[in-house]
This record gives sequence, C-alpha cells and structure tokens, in this order.
Amino acid sequence: MKKQSERNSAKNIPNVILARATVADMRFLFNLRNDPGVRAVSFNNNPIQWDEHRKWLLKTIENPNSCLFVVKVNRRRVGQVRVDLHVGYGEISVSIAAAYRGKGFAKISIDRVGRYVFKKYPKIKKIFAYIKPENIVSIKTFEKAGFSRQSNVKHKGNRALKMALIR
Ligand SMILES: CC(C)(COP(=O)(O)OP(=O)(O)OC[C@H]1O[C@@H](n2cnc3c(N)ncnc32)[C@H](O)[C@@H]1OP(=O)(O)O)[C@@H](O)C(=O)NCCC(=O)NCCS
Repeated sequence: MKKQSERNSAKNIPNVILARATVADMRFLFNLRNDPGVRAVSFNNNPIQWDEHRKWLLKTIENPNSCLFVVKVNRRRVGQVRVDLHVGYGEISVSIAAAYRGKGFAKISIDRVGRYVFKKYPKIKKIFAYIKPENIVSIKTFEKAGFSRQSNVKHKGNRALKMALIR
C-alpha cells in the first residue's frame, strides 16, 4: 500500500481530461476490463472476449444513455469512467490502470463526470455506485469524490454497498 505522500504526488495536475470513448479506445478498454485487479472487484468476474467487447463498445458509444469517457493524463490513457443514465438517476463505474493508481485520477474523474452529468441532464438527481464491501480503496475513493454510503444491497447477485452522489 502506498504512503499518503506518494499517493498525493500527482494531485491537481491540470492535464487530466475526460475524452468521450471512441473505437480508437477499443484495445485500451479491453485490456483494462480484463485486468485481473479490475475483474476481481467487478460483479461479472469472467474475462471478456474480444468479440463481445467489440460489440459492447460499439453499442455503448452509440447509446445516448451511456456516458463513457477515457481518462487521459498528458494524452496518455490511464482509465475509464462511465455513467449509465436511467430514469432520474445514473449508475457510475470507474477503473484506473494499475500503473496509474493512487495518484488522484479516479477522484478527479468521478468528480468531473458527476458535474458533467448533473449539468447536462437536469432530470438526473442522483448518481449511484455499487461497490463490493471488501473494495475499501474504491469506497474511500467515492467518499473522497463526495459520495455517501446508503445501504447494503444485493447487486447482480452479490452483496454490495450502495453509495450515492445527490445533486
Ligand atoms: C478504485 C480505483 C478506481 C481508485 O483509483 P485511484 O486513481 O487509485 O484512486 P485515487 O488515487 O483517486 O484515490 C482516491 C482515494 O482513495 C483512497 N486510496 C487510493 N489508493 C489508496 C491506497 N493504495 N491505500 C489506501 N487508500 C487509498 C484514498 O482515500 C484516496 O484519497 P487521498 O489520496 O486523498 O487520501 C482503482 O483502484 C481501480 O481502478 N481499482 C479497480 C477497479 C475498481 O475497483 N473500480 C471501482 C468499482 S466501481
């Protein structure tokens, strides 16, 4: 586990951008999705096949109810953040590539995507995150980004902590 000083090293750097995902991000998103650390904390643990991923990405890019962004730092892809829009609320997920964790990139990304969604979609009043209870780093990250703990729930057949950002 990294020390606080190391984790803070890249905080507030100005070059973090959220770029709408495109087909050019297909390979990066595939590798990120199949990263063992990401799979372990996902509600669907099975590795994703390329063809399935390709279909998913093409559909997601076209879907007006899905906001998928690639997180870029100094033009390098470091992670992804996605909010799926439902009636009145959004559901968020985030992942940062292992080499770039602990630098504040998830916190910045969650904060930015939350602001974006609340500004662009006035009918979205809440954004929910479902997190495995043992995924402490993720819970802390969402708390740092302004989410609060709601309740313990069942999500996709697993126990989950439901967290919320309320506008
Ligand atoms: C969870 C995840 C997105 C966090 O990304 P990250 O960029 O490393 O997180 P940040 O650097 O923004 O950290 C935010 C907060 O989390 C906590 N945190 C982050 N890394 C930590 C570590 N190694 N040890 C303890 N706390 C940590 C801290 O509270 C930190 O805030 P602080 O630095 O101001 O104290 C990343 O670990 C990841 O992609 N994990 C796999 C996928 C996943 O779990 N996704 C979330 C499920 S929806």
